[in-house]
Amino acid sequence: VEVTTHSQNPNAVAVIGAGFIGCSYVAVFARAGWEVRIYDADPTFRSAAKERVASLLKQTGHGDNLKNVSVHDDLEQSLDGVRWVQECTPENLDIKQSVFIQLDKLCPSEVILASSASALTMTAIAEKVSMPGRCVVVHPTNPPHLLRFVEIVAGANTKPHVVTEAAEVMRAIGQYPAVLHKEIPGFILNRLQVALEREAFKLLACQVASVQDIDAAVSEGLGPRWAALGPFAVEETNAANIGVGLTKFRAYFNETMAELDDEPFDAVDDAFIALAVEGVRVAYGENCHDDLLEKRDNLLTGLKDMHQP
Ligand SMILES: NC(=O)c1ccc[n+]([C@@H]2O[C@H](COP(=O)([O-])OP(=O)(O)OC[C@H]3O[C@@H](n4cnc5c(N)ncnc54)[C@H](O)[C@@H]3O)[C@@H](O)[C@H]2O)c1
Repeated sequence: VEVTTHSQNPNAVAVIGAGFIGCSYVAVFARAGWEVRIYDADPTFRSAAKERVASLLKQTGHGDNLKNVSVHDDLEQSLDGVRWVQECTPENLDIKQSVFIQLDKLCPSEVILASSASALTMTAIAEKVSMPGRCVVVHPTNPPHLLRFVEIVAGANTKPHVVTEAAEVMRAIGQYPAVLHKEIPGFILNRLQVALEREAFKLLACQVASVQDIDAAVSEGLGPRWAALGPFAVEETNAANIGVGLTKFRAYFNETMAELDDEPFDAVDDAFIALAVEGVRVAYGENCHDDLLEKRDNLLTGLKDMHQP
């Protein structure tokens, strides 16, 4: 049975789950002028949410927009009048399936149900809902209030107009939507990230270089260039043009790629985790976590066009 009302506010969103991604998404919608309604199953997260969001909004100079944000003790109440739901609960199929069953029951049929899922597909998440056509993955980059890239991935039953509308909404709130043509594990961002991380992990495991130097190859070398240009644009600029470059370096690419395939690395086991933990402590110090986060956020807030509108 389709529930229909027409009292949705076109600029109102419910964010379900107020963890890392949820709070950051709240900031993205709130600073774009949307009314944001938060629900989290855990009362501790509910009481902490507003303060967390306040500090994220301050980072980009949008502190006043906290007035657009409300926190609700009840899921149904949080959904009242919204046009969009951004689900940000843990990456666990049982949790997401049960949240989507509830959302599907409680929201009128025109409300879009978006998931921040990183690896779970909408085909799986929406398996048991009555209206899978309005369900879509809208996967952000962490933290979305400082990084605009989002992946829009349809499930087997997602309606095309929902994909289009998802891209429009993301663009309207200042994000950069990429619409995938296929539902593929890891989508594109994490496939690219894990491809690089696999090699970084392997270089450490094989004792080719230290954590600090492997990280520096990215933070001092590849990363700043990648902040400006993606891999294809890099190849365009590495030679007269990409066609010339790929032709000139054809043998180098093919040999290196074959070599990488011949030496796979697929063992994030206890021994490797201990090696990585030790390597990070040696490189950055015992209590580096907050310093590294601050370094990241300082750089990202300084990058132009990264936090609109
Ligand atoms: N952290 C990242 O780097 C990152 C990046 C992109 C996407 N994601 C995805 O975003 C989602 C959220 O990840 P996170 O890192 O913010 O997790 P998190 O653990 O920080 O937050 C999850 C929140 O959901 C709440 N929650 C649990 N069950 C719930 C329920 N039934 N109803 C309502 N709230 C519930 C928890 O209390 C918690 O506050 C995941 O799907 C994750 O894969 C994470």
